[in-house]
Amino acid sequence: MAHIVGKDGEVLGMDISRQMVEVAKDRHRELEGLIFLKKDVTQPWDYQSHFDGIFTSFALHELPEAGRLAVLEQSYRALRERGRMVIADFNPQISGIGKNILLPFFKLFERENLNFFSFDQNEILRKTGFKRIRTFPVLGSLFRITLAHKS
Ligand SMILES: C[S@@+](CC[C@H](N)C(=O)[O-])C[C@H]1O[C@@H](n2cnc3c(N)ncnc32)[C@H](O)[C@@H]1O
Repeated sequence: MAHIVGKDGEVLGMDISRQMVEVAKDRHRELEGLIFLKKDVTQPWDYQSHFDGIFTSFALHELPEAGRLAVLEQSYRALRERGRMVIADFNPQISGIGKNILLPFFKLFERENLNFFSFDQNEILRKTGFKRIRTFPVLGSLFRITLAHKS
């Protein structure tokens, strides 16, 4: 993303884990306009109508239900009028064999977030105000990419 926005753009990465932030900083020392913050994204953000795009990558499934909602609401507020949000994560609406594959993984590593599978992400996105929501299945629908627009 830093390459795409170029020297005049700005990319901000947030993660609650200090180690993740340190690894990210280490890997991308040479890039300008790149900021990494150690932050709990479920807590209030300092940004309103600020970003052209927001990308969340495999983090929503790690949050409790209220945290997922908080992230989507704050993302909506933090986007500019023509901004877009992209969500890459497990597919919460998975069924059949796919669910049989994902459930043991969640039971082992994400036990407290099993309700992710009843998370109607697109409905929450709509309620939050997002429009023109499109989803793209990845790897036989195990994963899903979602694109949603602020206006
Ligand atoms: C599966 S990792 C994905 C990491 C990275 N986004 C990627 O795509 O490679 C999930 C990340 O979510 C972060 N995370 C979990 N809860 C969070 C929270 N409340 N606020 C910010 N980050 C959080 C974890 O620290 C972890 O780095």
